[in-house]
Formats: sequence, structure tokens, C-alpha cells
Amino acid sequence: MDYELIDFKVMGDETGSLVAIEGLKNIPFEVKRVYYIFGTTSNAVRGKHAHRNLQQLIFCPIGSCEFTLDNGVERKTVRLQMPNQGLYIKSNVWREFSAFSPDCVVMVLASAIYDESDYIRDYQEFLREVTSSTS
Ligand code: TYD
Repeated sequence: MDYELIDFKVMGDETGSLVAIEGLKNIPFEVKRVYYIFGTTSNAVRGKHAHRNLQQLIFCPIGSCEFTLDNGVERKTVRLQMPNQGLYIKSNVWREFSAFSPDCVVMVLASAIYDESDYIRDYQEFLREVTSSTS
């Protein structure tokens, strides 16, 4: 399964904590886009897509949520609940995220600007593409 959990160093003192994320330094790509999701309802399920080329680093600086990752063969669920832990996802991984805490903020750092043609939004199409890329 093409994902990795990255624990970032927390630089803290008695006044608070700080985490620094730097492209090509402590994450494996250059950051071209940042977006964030907030105000999610508790029963929402988001994502439901894969990307053909995009790399992403996802973390919850506030609150928590659950990511279910699927490479066409297996499914894994990861809970993001620490502000210094990021989920690194490469291409061709179907993702759904849900179980949002009421305060949840999901931050995403992405390797490319928004491109709808990079999305696979149909699960059967995703299975076709991952099967043909591995055969
Ligand atoms: P989507 O990626 O499907 O959201 P999620 O994975 O959180 O469910 O995007 C939702 C909408 O926002 C969709 O209409 C595309 C648009 N969008 C942009 O315009 N720019 C962006 O950078 C992103 C991520 C989404």
C-alpha cells in the first residue's frame, strides 16, 4: 500500500509548539498547492477518489478524522489525530475520509495545482486503471 505516516519534529517550549514542513526536505515533494477542509459534519464521507499522479501530505492540525486507503487489492484505515503526524499518499490510492471530530481541520499539501483530469472519481474506473498499470 502506497502510503506512509510521517512524524514531524515538534519544536516546543513552555510557550507552545511548532512544526515545520519543508518540500523535498522532510516531505518527498515540492509543495505547489495547499488546501484545507473544515466545518465537516460528523456523518460526512469525503474523498471517494484517487489521483493519477498527485502526491499529498495530509494532516489534522486540529481535531481528528479517519482515512480509508485502498490500492485495489487491500484496504487500510488510518486515524489522523496528532498535529505533528502527516499521511503521505502517492498516486493510485483510492481514499475516503470520515469520522470527523467536530473541530476537525484537514490540511493538505499537494505536489501540483488543481487539475480535475488527474482525478479518478469512479471506483470501477480506478480498479481498471490500477489493474492495467500492474499487469
Ligand atoms: P474534492 O477534491 O472532491 O474534495 P474532497 O476530496 O475533500 O471530498 O473537491 C471538492 C470540490 O472542490 C470539487 O468541486 C473540486 C474543488 N476543488 C478545487 O477547486 N480546488 C482544489 O484544490 C480542490 C482540492 C478541490
